Amino acid sequence: MKRLLITGGAGFIGANFCHYWRAVHPADRLVVLDALTYAGNLASIDELVQSQRVRFVHGDICDRERVASLIREERIDTLVNFAAESHVDRSIEDPQRFLRTNIMGTHALLDAVRSAWSQPAEGGFRFHHVSTDEVYGSLGPADPPFTETTPYAPNSPYSASKAAADHIVRAYGHTYGTPCTISNCSNNYGPYQFPEKLLPLCIVNILEGRPVPIYGDGLQIRDWLHVHDHCRAIDCILRASGAGETWNVGGGSSEPNIRIVESVCDLVDEEFRERVELKSRFPRSAPAQGRPSRSLMQHVRDRPGHDRRYAVDGSKVARLGFTPQTPLAAGLAATVRWYLENESWWRGIVSGAYRDWCAREYAAS
Ligand code: NAD
Ligand code: DAU
Repeated sequence: MKRLLITGGAGFIGANFCHYWRAVHPADRLVVLDALTYAGNLASIDELVQSQRVRFVHGDICDRERVASLIREERIDTLVNFAAESHVDRSIEDPQRFLRTNIMGTHALLDAVRSAWSQPAEGGFRFHHVSTDEVYGSLGPADPPFTETTPYAPNSPYSASKAAADHIVRAYGHTYGTPCTISNCSNNYGPYQFPEKLLPLCIVNILEGRPVPIYGDGLQIRDWLHVHDHCRAIDCILRASGAGETWNVGGGSSEPNIRIVESVCDLVDEEFRERVELKSRFPRSAPAQGRPSRSLMQHVRDRPGHDRRYAVDGSKVARLGFTPQTPLAAGLAATVRWYLENESWWRGIVSGAYRDWCAREYAAS
């Protein structure tokens, strides 16, 4: 039986990881530590918290004493760090908080485990740090995909902060013997993703009849990984004995942004054709107004310093037994349906009501 501390467990990937781990490893103890920034939403794990299958603790990863005492109190043996500022555009607007949370926060967590894990645990300890393929920078059209030995060349304040964190994690493993692993994964998509990221923004804007912004020419290429596949990859890595190792995790589905957006538009239109009630539920949407969703696509000013292409070589993690199982077309269709079925989740975010709801919930916890 493992005892996990999941930092950032109220965010997109962290929440999916909680649902995944609870289903696959029902005997394990799960504790979530999350500061509930704008990106954290307790509603994403509410059913797990209410049924006491997850303990939620409201707190900041930068608070090392608090983290160390939580690790001791809960006898945590595995820490999976998802907590971060994660949106590239926000890092361009305001880099400061990215440096604080992503660099200083990761450092505080490492110090906390160093002080709390002084006695060896029976099954061993693990500090797993969730990082990104963006640390490797941008690829040219003919470059081979990123491997674990590709030199770091981050281009945005976000990716630079993630790269710095990776280096600190590695240094703690090398210098103090902290049992660390890192995964660098590509663009995730799926349930519970905050509608500032391309895919959920696109779905929500279509349903609200708002323009769908395409940065620049829209020919930037990303490798799309379904979040459930990502959770399985982390599980494989946690089970592997590999302290000091890093793994790249990709979805094996590289597409230009504009193709992804077109696919989402077409999938929404298809849902509207098959389900007549959608027109009355979403009267402002393009299909309810008799127009194709693609008519909402609008080229806008490009992101400054926009990375052109990422691609991930997943052969190392494949040797642990992980390969992505969600074909992109099926994953996109399921994601569109999830947003149609979970309107109250994203409406709470769009209206801002989720902030008050979360504040009331954690005040009670
Ligand atoms: P997210 O922005 O949806 O969630 C981040 C979570 O961290 C939120 O719940 C937030 O409240 C919490 N948090 C932020 N600052 C905190 C602090 N100081 N203390 C405690 N909690 C704090 O992010 P995500 O998309 O779920 O990404 C999770 C991790 O995966 C991040 O480290 C990100 O860099 C990495 N990653 C994400 C993707 C992706 O496509 N989303 C891809 C590669 C890597
Ligand atoms: O590659 C992994 C990274 O993927 C993670 O480390 C980040 O945390 C995560 O946010 C994501 O970064 P991106 O910048 O790739 O994701 P985003 O959804 O913001 O944008 C995806 C692509 O779509 C990117 O090329 C920018 C473009 N885009 C984005 C938005 C929000 C648009 O064209 N229009 C938009 O409105």
